[in-house]
Amino acid sequence: MSVDGTILITGGSRGIGAATATLLANQGHRVVIVDIAPEPLVGTNAILWPAPFDVASEAAVVAGIADIEKAHGPITGLVNAAGVFGKMHTIDRVRMEQWDREVNIDLRGTFLVARSVGIGMAKRRQHGAIVNVASVAGMTSGPIHAYTAAKAGVIQITQTLAAEWGRSGVRVNAVSPGFTRTAALEAGIASGALNKDLLARPTAMNRLVEPMEVAQAIAWLLSPQSSGVTGINLPVDAGYIAGTTWAAYGGLPDAPRS
Ligand SMILES: NC(=O)c1ccc[n+]([C@@H]2O[C@H](COP(=O)([O-])OP(=O)(O)OC[C@H]3O[C@@H](n4cnc5c(N)ncnc54)[C@H](O)[C@@H]3O)[C@@H](O)[C@H]2O)c1
Repeated sequence: MSVDGTILITGGSRGIGAATATLLANQGHRVVIVDIAPEPLVGTNAILWPAPFDVASEAAVVAGIADIEKAHGPITGLVNAAGVFGKMHTIDRVRMEQWDREVNIDLRGTFLVARSVGIGMAKRRQHGAIVNVASVAGMTSGPIHAYTAAKAGVIQITQTLAAEWGRSGVRVNAVSPGFTRTAALEAGIASGALNKDLLARPTAMNRLVEPMEVAQAIAWLLSPQSSGVTGINLPVDAGYIAGTTWAAYGGLPDAPRS
């Protein structure tokens, strides 16, 4: 991907999207961020699209992408980082309005933005790269029924779009973060809804993931260094997938004392 093109990041005002925008802008790329609650990123050259941008609204996405390309030129890189977390509930308490909200933003929104940007990339037949932010939740299970289903859908649609546009030079990949230390996750820990030790313990590395670690993986998937990679889902999870089944065997071993 060339530094000449524009990289669009949804959900770019906070969390993983903000870390990715900061990293890529600092590397010299032209980065435009959109968000439903737009806030500038202080101390970076990332350009804020000032109007609220709702990834779940088809009309808003189609019009917004056209306006952004008119103002900032063709989009050559896209990061779909906008998302909402799953509300934790027992199955009888899952509210279908909440189900619809999570699926509409996390799955439908990812598809809508990828389609609006990717069709243009494919027509131009330049090199283009798209990275969708899925989750380890889409590869496992938990009491977040809509969220896990939506993220599994993101992993699936990533493959479909990679096959759709592969011959046009557009690569489409996903990253699946484990529990990542964003402000939103910290707030969940501070409120007592989440327990930091319980989140970290099943991971091979016994820790949370940093937003910048997810950003580095995204930057690699956007870059020419990954030119042969399309249709994959890359976990960035401090070994959550690797370690989580060890609970059945008594847990993960401590590091040896030095
Ligand atoms: N933090 C984690 O532990 C974790 C783990 C796995 C996956 N993820 C995924 O990473 C992505 C980013 O999450 P985060 O942790 O940075 O959360 P975050 O809440 O810090 O950031 C999400 C951003 O998306 C924006 N957004 C929400 N709804 C939107 C909409 N309809 N249209 C446009 N923007 C919208 C929010 O305003 C916010 O700025 C999400 O898809 C999330 O599911 C996060």
